[in-house]
Amino acid sequence: MNKSAKKILAALLSTTMAFSLASCSGPGGSGKKTVGIAMPTKSLERWNRDGEYLKDLFEKAGYKVELKYSDNKTDQQNNDIQNMIADKVDLLLIAAVDGSTLTQTLDDAKKAKIPVVAYDRLIMNTDAVSYYVSFDNYTVGKLQGEFVRDKLELESAAGPFNIEFTAGDPADNNATYFFNGAYEALQSYIDAGKLVIKSGKKTFEQVATEKWKTETALANMQNTLASYYSDGTVLDVALCSNDSTALGVAQAIGSDYKGSNKPIVTGQDGDVANLRNIVDGVQTMTVYKNVRDQAGVTVEVSKAILDGKTPGSDLIGSLPAEAVYDTDSYNNGVKNVPSYLLVPYVITADNLQKLVDTTLYKWDDAHKYLESTAETT
Ligand code: GAL
Repeated sequence: MNKSAKKILAALLSTTMAFSLASCSGPGGSGKKTVGIAMPTKSLERWNRDGEYLKDLFEKAGYKVELKYSDNKTDQQNNDIQNMIADKVDLLLIAAVDGSTLTQTLDDAKKAKIPVVAYDRLIMNTDAVSYYVSFDNYTVGKLQGEFVRDKLELESAAGPFNIEFTAGDPADNNATYFFNGAYEALQSYIDAGKLVIKSGKKTFEQVATEKWKTETALANMQNTLASYYSDGTVLDVALCSNDSTALGVAQAIGSDYKGSNKPIVTGQDGDVANLRNIVDGVQTMTVYKNVRDQAGVTVEVSKAILDGKTPGSDLIGSLPAEAVYDTDSYNNGVKNVPSYLLVPYVITADNLQKLVDTTLYKWDDAHKYLESTAETT
């Protein structure tokens, strides 16, 4: 064979190889499997972190990633997921904007044989969801309630103390777990009159905050303060389900509150602005959920599914973070969704270093406030 014939043969061979790789799997023909990730919104800090960590860890594990944020809009999220189904992704990972609006779209995913993992928030009314990876949501609320109990020494103190609740988005299945966990931890003191809800707003529906919006939580707390605390009545506790709502509530307390004390303000997520408030004494605690661990656990569960396995409790030992496997607690209206639940913990001004130890935060130059080490936050 002369030189030019060899060249032609080489060119032919490489084209054939490229072709067979392309037909192998995944959009773009890289031969890698693709994970489609649908996140709710960029407007709340945590989801930026989740997206970043998930993308990073899936790519390190050898997968391609399609990552979409849906601006908290259900239509957009349905479209995003439909597009990923059309792109033939190999697995869908979804943190739902509204857990009850995806049934039809996930039917299509099922028809296309694409497995679905619910991320952080359960997806309701569908048998198309195979697994759920989250934190123990009830415990998040319970930790907030127990923190208040201990801080006010409710067992021994005479009281009464005044408390107001701010809960999350009614479209988010987690939100009732958070509220119930907190409320039930305090219920006996409320029933005994040791804790008083001046506004009378004691049901989830009365204190829910659409889309977890800071501005809505701010306006609601301003109303409550104006209606029930404008005469200087002391508010002892503002129990907020998460950090975005705590931000608004703390702002309302800062500007509209006439009482002489600083109320206890709870939160969840470890958002940087809230950690600042914790240093400044404007917020008292946050329940921290390490989302890099959550992403790590999710990648392991997804890998097992993509390898054709049916992961169960056997996976627990090989997960990168502490988690329990639970097949009883999360029913989505159609079935019990097998769940991997990670463990949340309390952060206050006294143990901020614990966050630095995760390497996801660092001290600022003055060693006063925390900054995120994530790129997108
Ligand atoms: C929940 C999530 C919380 C919080 C909230 C607002 O579903 O578990 O961590 O971030 O949404 O986005």
